[in-house]
Amino acid sequence: MQKKKLMIHDFMSMKRDGEKITWITSYDYPTAQFAEAAGMDMILVGDSLGMCVYGYESTVPVTMDQCIVHSEAVRRAAPNTFVVGDMPLGSYQVSDAEAARNAIRFLKEAGVDAIKLEGGKRVLSRIRAILDAGIVVIGHIGLTPQSSGQIGGHKAQGRTVDSARLVIEDALAIEEAGAQMLLIEAVPPEVAGFITKRLRIPVLSIGAGPGCDGQLLIVSDLIGQFTAFTPKFVKQYANVAEVVTNALKAYVSDVRNGTFPTDEHCYHMMKGEEEKLKEVIREYK
Ligand code: KIV
Repeated sequence: MQKKKLMIHDFMSMKRDGEKITWITSYDYPTAQFAEAAGMDMILVGDSLGMCVYGYESTVPVTMDQCIVHSEAVRRAAPNTFVVGDMPLGSYQVSDAEAARNAIRFLKEAGVDAIKLEGGKRVLSRIRAILDAGIVVIGHIGLTPQSSGQIGGHKAQGRTVDSARLVIEDALAIEEAGAQMLLIEAVPPEVAGFITKRLRIPVLSIGAGPGCDGQLLIVSDLIGQFTAFTPKFVKQYANVAEVVTNALKAYVSDVRNGTFPTDEHCYHMMKGEEEKLKEVIREYK
């Protein structure tokens, strides 16, 4: 049976019914196909693709064009999953008009269902501008990797009362601005759990504990493909790096010692052609 594609009102109902929302990042066609087949509710084409796909040190160099190309591929692979485009650094910081223009690109060129952007109170006018264009907006607060320089690096937020208050105020302001969903990253469960109860919109967690309405993980962490570092909040479900490296080592060894390819990997001449080929070969000798 074909999977039913969930939309934003379904996520609101899931929150009301206490049903958890499942969310994963994906950047390419095959992985997005696997996510849809696994019954994932949402896919984020995160700007984490900068590190997970391109090998950059951070998300900073990621461009709109890169996000569009990867979102398009994911959309094609997962037509029945709610796909979210991630606004990269530089696509929404300069003005409301530019934020709306780039969010519109995500819909027109990649067919995503929503966009996500980082920041709390300081991006409220951007959120409103994108909503005014009729686009579903997901906020992202707590640890916001694009502004990690300002928040002291890739560090958990809200761990002191003063910092927790800032996270809570950002959450309230984002809901008030009209965003339809909120993602909280690397914040203590006590704080994120309170926000989840206090807000009407679904609140998703990446490293914000079990009290939220659902969970997001970066697929490359979950399957053990990204090996540079692993945040504390990650649960690794597979070791793709090991599986793939072992497969490639076995191939290198087979080629070197002549055990690949064998007869079963060869195309043979069509019936009756073998004899004629012998003649051709004689001609060239
Ligand atoms: O780009 C991304 O994958 C993200 C997550 C870190 C939440 O924004």
